[in-house]
Amino acid sequence: MILTTPQQPGDNSPPLTASDFQRLAQLVRREAGLDLPEMKEMLVYSRLVGRVRELGFSDFGQYADLLSRPGTEPERQRLINALTTNTTQFFREKHHFAYLAQEALPPLIAQARKGARLRIWSAGCSSGEEAYSLAFTLLEACPNAAQLDIKILATDIDADVLSQAILGKYPESALHKLPQTVMTRHFTPVDDHAWQVNAEARALIHFRSLNLIKPLPMRGPFDIVFCRNVAIYFDAATQDLLWKQLNGITAPGGYLFLGHSERLSSPTKEEFGLQGVTIYRKRPSAVPNDLGQSEASQGEPPCR
Ligand SMILES: C[S@@+](CC[C@H](N)C(=O)[O-])C[C@H]1O[C@@H](n2cnc3c(N)ncnc32)[C@H](O)[C@@H]1O
Repeated sequence: MILTTPQQPGDNSPPLTASDFQRLAQLVRREAGLDLPEMKEMLVYSRLVGRVRELGFSDFGQYADLLSRPGTEPERQRLINALTTNTTQFFREKHHFAYLAQEALPPLIAQARKGARLRIWSAGCSSGEEAYSLAFTLLEACPNAAQLDIKILATDIDADVLSQAILGKYPESALHKLPQTVMTRHFTPVDDHAWQVNAEARALIHFRSLNLIKPLPMRGPFDIVFCRNVAIYFDAATQDLLWKQLNGITAPGGYLFLGHSERLSSPTKEEFGLQGVTIYRKRPSAVPNDLGQSEASQGEPPCR
């Protein structure tokens, strides 16, 4: 069955059949966790048709054949890059950053000033706006963050958006909603209509390629995890796997921020308390001491 056919008589666009769609969808689900039901056929078609033509193929089946061969990892990465949705913006869901500044960061920064480590992770960071918003919020609360043991890890599966994130260069259209104070402190104009994030904020962030559905390569724990608007592209089973991984890497008493339409599910949900809209806090695992603080949150956290 052909899902997407040429639109005009004489149009020789490569057709996408239901079985070729399934082959591509299965590959992308297996490799990246992305859920592509058949209703997404136009999205798949429009994002891949240029590549199918470029490779000289007359249909999507030939492209699926190519991807099934050993040694085609770079083409698979390209496929994943093409099928991820990377929509993001600076200070997206402002209430998360307000909560960070007012509630989550002050005690963590106080501990960092006494020598403790503070680790933040932007998981599924896209082109970097989320990670830089975290850095700006951190620098506002702790101007000497660079002198303390504070780091932000920012990761994504999509190599194309990661390159943009590392560059930290954005068109004016992406910046027009930012307060003037943030622009003045954290950006420098570099081209006619583009601005780059200053070295101070960039130095706090380490950008890395990372697939959230594979075993995590780092040990953590992280005090603050932003994993927003990533799980919505996964099916329920893959979301459960992701929640388990995020639970494992979040410090007791640490925070997990999800996207506006995402919710933790059981059994991970029971490990966290809800602090605000899509703001979760991991329950301390240790017995509270006399000060009402968890033993696990005292002193030097484990190596991460
Ligand atoms: C819609 S963007 C969200 C960006 C940012 N977190 C925000 O909320 O503005 C989703 C990001 O998740 C990434 N992503 C999708 N599947 C992933 C996976 N299996 N591992 C890591 N990142 C993934 C995509 O490449 C994309 O950049």
